Amino acid sequence: PANKTITVCGKDFVRDRMTNVNAKILSHIGRALHRQKDHPLYHTKTRLLQCLHQRYQNRRGNPVFTVVEDLPPLVTVQQNFDQLLVPPDHVCRNKRDNYYVNRRHLLRAHTSAHQGDLLASGLDNFVIVGDVYRRDEIDAFHYPVFHQMEGVKLYTAEELLPEDAGTGGPRPQVLTGLPSTGACAPDTNAPQAAHTPQAVAALTTDLQQCLQAMATTLFGEKTQCRWVPAYFPFTQPSWELEVLLDGRWVEILGCGIVQQRILETAGVKAKVGWAFGLGLERWAMKLYDIPDIRIFWSRDSGFLSQFKFEDSNTLYKYKRVSAYPQCTNDISFWLPSAATFDSNDFYDLVRQVGGDIVEQVSLVDEFKHPKTGRTSHCYRIVYRHMEKTLTQEEVNVVHRAIAATATAELAVTVR
Ligand code: PHE
Repeated sequence: PANKTITVCGKDFVRDRMTNVNAKILSHIGRALHRQKDHPLYHTKTRLLQCLHQRYQNRRGNPVFTVVEDLPPLVTVQQNFDQLLVPPDHVCRNKRDNYYVNRRHLLRAHTSAHQGDLLASGLDNFVIVGDVYRRDEIDAFHYPVFHQMEGVKLYTAEELLPEDAGTGGPRPQVLTGLPSTGACAPDTNAPQAAHTPQAVAALTTDLQQCLQAMATTLFGEKTQCRWVPAYFPFTQPSWELEVLLDGRWVEILGCGIVQQRILETAGVKAKVGWAFGLGLERWAMKLYDIPDIRIFWSRDSGFLSQFKFEDSNTLYKYKRVSAYPQCTNDISFWLPSAATFDSNDFYDLVRQVGGDIVEQVSLVDEFKHPKTGRTSHCYRIVYRHMEKTLTQEEVNVVHRAIAATATAELAVTVR
């Protein structure tokens, strides 16, 4: 029967206890905003690729990076986590943060999910661009689907380290010969034992210069940048790049030196490399002053026509067609039990029933009844249509539908 299976990217999957994708989320697959020529994500991607292609060319002056941007977002747990050395019990595998098709498949949570396969296919320099899916809070900066660009670059000792010119000595090695250890503990960020200090230094300089150049090219020469140590199971050491924008430090990417174990598993020998991943929406919102992440999904010509420029380097600031008013409604309910209820399930449900007219959902009050011990949550839902004024009656219809669905699916008792 149809309800036992679910169709994703043209394939049927048997539902199980991990299944939490829904029709609303699946409807985003295939939009390919990053490949739509008049889209701000397309222009942002193009500008970032220009930086990479300019910096890394072969002897004939051709770009070395292969761009892969049409991989479907359906991946295996193996690709999204295992291949990347994410420990089996790591919290990021959680059902509350990911869209699972079933226990073996999910919608990729990051473009890193393709690193292993592309490395195994023999690519040394590649960029992956694609839509990624994460269950998250709801506000102007979070949407359950967004776009990432991932870059991976490998080097042989010959490519990375010059011969020891001064001393006339032999070329330094990139590998120590010590075994690769796999993911480090989250609180250590020391270089990998498998890497020589020269390799780590050269990779770090190259990686940081490249990414900092991308930031200053797009955000302006004077943009202040800082490197913050970070943790990813698939790179070590790892960093995040933050830039000072309008007086605030904003994280714009994650990166690091690829775990040697990942390269070994992919069959890559005698090479070392770096990788980075960034969210295109983050960059595009800053670049074009786009105030709300939902706008990227608009099919409205008032939006798309603003980005009809041939040259992606065109400087442009988004003009709000008009600001329609917000409509705010609260909903309060008793939880079935505090242990089985998860706010992310409610956020998802609101998104599913309310669609894109939901601008924000926040937990505004939580309280435990002194006698019954039951917990009550109050959520404030802010509704705003991006292209018209909503009437209170239109909002009420949606708000009631949310209450009814929450009652039926999450077993809450609306107060
Ligand atoms: N995949 C990481 C994320 O989504 C970003 C990343 C990519 C970090 C590659 C390091 C190397 O947050």
